[in-house]
Amino acid sequence: MKIEDCKIIDLPKINDPRGNLSFIEGNVHIPFLVKRSYWIYDVPGGQIRGGHAYSELQEFIIALSGSFDVVIDDGNTKKTISLNRSYYGLYVPPMIWRSLENFSTNSLCLILSSAPYSEKLYIRNYEDFLQKTGK
Ligand code: TYD
Repeated sequence: MKIEDCKIIDLPKINDPRGNLSFIEGNVHIPFLVKRSYWIYDVPGGQIRGGHAYSELQEFIIALSGSFDVVIDDGNTKKTISLNRSYYGLYVPPMIWRSLENFSTNSLCLILSSAPYSEKLYIRNYEDFLQKTGK
């Protein structure tokens, strides 16, 4: 996988004076069916989450509230994507090292995942990651 395979995806946004609404359908707005959702919140200032890759798992990361940075790395190229709106998100394919940093106070990060939780899908060692990507 290459850094270019990570994509910002704009979601539908139904503007309404009563409050806006956005939604996601698996295999329609994002290229996988959602098997799991989890969220990261109450992150103390300066903390970093993530810091791993997945062997066979796709995910879609949204800043439902506040802002944070997603640092993505394909073993060759590193890029920082700032997320700060609830009507778009970042699609991350397998074999991309990623970490979540620079959380604003009260930020809420929603992650939709293509697989149920399994520690077997994690690559937590950066050297192992580089080896597996052939770098
Ligand atoms: P981890 O994915 O390492 O968090 P992060 O990537 O944000 O640093 O998960 C932290 C802990 O939570 C780990 O012990 C496994 C557990 N966990 C689950 O049980 N289910 C899940 O869906 C997730 C994402 C984590």
